[in-house]
Order: sequence, then C-alpha cells, then structure tokens
Amino acid sequence: MTNNGIGYSSAKIILIGEHSVVYGEPSIALPFSAIKIKALVTTSTTKTTIDCAFYNGLLDDMPELLDSLKKAILLSLEKIKQTNTPLAIRIVSDIPAERGMGSSAAVAVATVRALFDYFNVTLPYSLLLQIVDEAEKIAHGNPSGLDALMTSSNTPYFFIKGQVPLAISLNLDAVLIVADTGITGRTKQVVAAIAQKYQAEQDSGPYHLAIQKLGQLAHSSKQFIESNEPVKLGHAFNEAQDALSLLKVSSPELNTLITVARENGALGAKLTGGGAGGCMIALAYDKKEAEHIAAALKNNGAKQTWLYEMSETNETIS
Ligand code: MEV
Repeated sequence: MTNNGIGYSSAKIILIGEHSVVYGEPSIALPFSAIKIKALVTTSTTKTTIDCAFYNGLLDDMPELLDSLKKAILLSLEKIKQTNTPLAIRIVSDIPAERGMGSSAAVAVATVRALFDYFNVTLPYSLLLQIVDEAEKIAHGNPSGLDALMTSSNTPYFFIKGQVPLAISLNLDAVLIVADTGITGRTKQVVAAIAQKYQAEQDSGPYHLAIQKLGQLAHSSKQFIESNEPVKLGHAFNEAQDALSLLKVSSPELNTLITVARENGALGAKLTGGGAGGCMIALAYDKKEAEHIAAALKNNGAKQTWLYEMSETNETIS
C-alpha cells in the first residue's frame, strides 16, 4: 500500500450535441487538458476529511452540494473494501464550477483515481465510468455519461449514450475559442426542465424536433471534421445554437458573447455544456482570427477565454 494516492482529470468541451445526447442522439466532445483537476489522498489520524474549494471538513458533515462527490468516494471505498480507513482527501481544481466544462464529473474522476491509487488497487476504466456515472446521477439527474467519459479521456469522441464511443481525430484547419460568461449554469435543473416539456408533448412537438435537429447536426459535424470543412462546421454551430435556444438553454450573457463572436468574424458560435450560463464556443480560421475574437469577447464581458487548435495535436494554445 502506498501512503499517497494521486488522481488527475481534465475539463471537457462539448462541440455539439449537449442535451440531445441525453435522448440518445449523438454528440461530439473533447477533453480540455489545459484545465485540470488533481486529487490527493493521504492517511488521516482521525476521520476521513475533505479539503476542496467549497468545503474543508469531515466527509460525514459534507454539505448537500457535494453529495455527488460523497457518493463517488463511498462507492470507491466500498469497491476497494476499505470503508473504515480514515483518509485525508484534497482536491485542487482549475475548472470553474458549473460552467459546462464537466467540473462535477472531473472532480469525481480525479478523486476515484486517487483513492484506488492510494490503496494500490487497479481501477478498470469501466468501473471508473460506472462510479462516476452514479455520482453524476446526483449532480445532473439523468446523465448521458458523456461528462464522465470526456473528463477521463485523452481523445475527442463521437458519443452516443449506451454505445461504445468512437474516437475521432481532429483534422480541422481551425481554432476553437472557449469563453466563460462567469455565470454559473444549472445543468440539473435545465436537464429536468427539458425532460418535463419533452415528455408532455407529441413526437412532432418542438422539443422533439429540436433534439432530432441537434442529432442531425452532430452527424453532419462529424463529416465536416473528417473532411476539414470549418466553414460548414461553423454553420452547424449556429444552427445548433438556434435549436438550443428553442430548448430554452441559452441565457442573455451567452447570447451576447455568441453575437459578439459572430460579429467579429467567427465561422460559428454556440453555447457549450448545460447552458443557462457557463461557457460558449466559437470557431475561427486561424490563431490570429481567434485571438481577435477572444479579445472582443473579453471586452464584452467574458471572464476568461481559451484557444484550442482543432488539428491532430489537439493543443490548447492559451
Ligand atoms: C452537460 O455537460 C451535458 C448535458 O448534455 C447533460 C449530459 O450529457 O448528461 C447537458
């Protein structure tokens, strides 16, 4: 047994297919490895403690807000058969919480990895996803599994709920801009609000049609990525934003940044993740254009921006 356990995870960005992925439609997402979480597990002399940005105290007294993390810890300890060992768990996160970057899944991924590492027990990838999915049921209500996959992987994926994900390589001559509104989203509530409308209407109702449309856009986006057609991918982003607005997932702050990006030459722009706040993404031809768009976004309220090369190297360049 080692005395220290370490686990890492990264943020994720959904290119297309948020929300519709919950209904079995495809999505495309990528790990955003410039933004990371690190979890550290050491021995505690008394009871199990947690030290993270939102809480510092006993596992037993953790606030409800952190119930999903508690679930991930307890499930891991059950699997490892070490429910009575007192531990000190520390989580250091660069991922802004509730901004569509998968922070709840990423916290769980890093913590589960650190716990298994501490006890020197092999963690099969399927078990990691299973534990994180259970935790995400508390955080998101009805998770598709996309966040668990993307915060624990190194590869962009074409993902359909319940199916083996398909790794895709990004061969696109384009740069992605990610911008944070600084407003926390409400993924669980938004997912639940969509479900209520979806279940209440006919198959031909507006929510069903918007979700189908998002699925079609994810399929065509995969082709545009494979055939290196950034202009078409940008259009797909714009159409996806229309469908997401119809699902009432956008917000005034997101709309402002999306408009600013388009007015400053973006090939397309949309929200990313749960919405109702959080982050937006925009596509630019090259780094120079992307820097220009990022500067405009910052001048118009974005709290932070990042650039991401959409080529094979998948480098985050700022
Ligand atoms: C949240 O990052 C993505 C959603 O599609 C929910 C999910 O996939 O579980 C909104």
